[in-house]
Amino acid sequence: MNNDQIRFDFNNVMLKKTGKRHLVSRDEIAALEPAVRDFHAQLQAEKAAGKLGFADLPDRTDAADACRKAAEARKGGFENFVVLGIGGSALGPIAVHNAIHNPHYNLDERLRNGWPRFFVEDNIDPDRMHALISLLDVRKTLFNVISKSGGTAETMAQFLIFRQMLRDQLGDAFAKNMIVTTDASNGLMREIVAAEGYESFAIPGNVGGRFSELTPVGLFPAAMTGINVANLLAGAKAMAQRCSVAELWKNPAYMDAVLHFIADTQKGKHISVMMPYSSRLRDIADWYRQLWAESLGKKHDLDGKVVNVGQTPVKALGVTDQHSQVQLYVEGPNDKVFTFIAVGKYSCDVTIPKAFDSKEGASYLGGHTLGELFDAERVGTQVAITQAGRPNLTITIPEVNEHHLGGLLYLFELQTAMAGKLYRINAFDQPGVEAGKRAAYALMGRAGYEKDRRQIESLTKKADDEFVIC
Ligand code: PA5
Repeated sequence: MNNDQIRFDFNNVMLKKTGKRHLVSRDEIAALEPAVRDFHAQLQAEKAAGKLGFADLPDRTDAADACRKAAEARKGGFENFVVLGIGGSALGPIAVHNAIHNPHYNLDERLRNGWPRFFVEDNIDPDRMHALISLLDVRKTLFNVISKSGGTAETMAQFLIFRQMLRDQLGDAFAKNMIVTTDASNGLMREIVAAEGYESFAIPGNVGGRFSELTPVGLFPAAMTGINVANLLAGAKAMAQRCSVAELWKNPAYMDAVLHFIADTQKGKHISVMMPYSSRLRDIADWYRQLWAESLGKKHDLDGKVVNVGQTPVKALGVTDQHSQVQLYVEGPNDKVFTFIAVGKYSCDVTIPKAFDSKEGASYLGGHTLGELFDAERVGTQVAITQAGRPNLTITIPEVNEHHLGGLLYLFELQTAMAGKLYRINAFDQPGVEAGKRAAYALMGRAGYEKDRRQIESLTKKADDEFVIC
């Protein structure tokens, strides 16, 4: 076994002896093999026809180059870098930043090597926004507005707030503190770019928000803190090649999709828990949560039939959530499939000092490292969950670096695309999110949404079943 490669261990999902109805048999997998072969051909055809945008991204080294150059040109010029975006326009940048950088990156300039502090403002909570406004000197801040559609209310509101502050403080020169990442040719943000002369990056038309981390959506924020974006793409490309075959038993992305699909639809595992044993990968689970939920949670299948499918993704963190969630995972309902993410080698380790020789409760730890304890606790949790008959998988990455991160992102994206095929739904739209957006437009008085507003008001008027508390 090569220790430089990502490993995907699904032993603990597989039925080895009869009678374990929660595990997956080889026959159940075999039954889906012909469909997976067909779906593979469909995905290949969609890629060839330019309809599977995310699959082209590992080859877009031009985008990575452009982002790196734009970042280098700004290095030293700004104290702060702020992403204004939400959902697929924020979760990837957060995940990659937190995976690669020291958790105290913003607090210590020695960790930044001349790059700016990094913020992602992915909420419009006024308390949080006020806190950021109070902290920043906007004249020394570069704002990166990220919106595929160019019309998302939250991002537009944030843009309007900081644009005004910049205009007030910098006058005509304000545009140099904004850089916009949006659709290549469509949407309001693209029109604003043209009108106000911001520098901009293009998100390919065929790449949706949650699949866009390997476009400038993720590449530019990463480059702005010195992350090696070429290596991110190289890792994704290596994974794309590894997952390019039709054979299910040779394709980890397809196998992971099939195992989750069977777990959900045949074994009652309607919840998919992702539990990295790595604080650095905590937000990869958050990014995956959106990818899995928004892509697969659908009312209609491809024929328009109501199906209401989708597995609920849950994020957890080892070991922290051992002291919060694992009791439920081991003894509660057997309705979950677990994905553990393990790290082969930590970037550094800490030795636990020897002390209290006569007190076994403390002395057994002495001389071991925290890494050893961390791994032991992960294995212990896996064993407990396995013994309780709960299916679980482990993905091990040799170390947390750009290359393996790129590989992991691509693996989950392709897995999601294949899962969409298995559920027979469109994994690339989000009609349920659009309904909420319409309602917000209506309530904020946007022209054209008057009928929606009247409807909402009639629905929200009555408040019979309500307590007034304290
Ligand atoms: O995956 C998606 O498409 C969504 O989560 C979007 O990323 C999110 O709604 C933000 O949209 P936009 O990038 O168009 O502002």
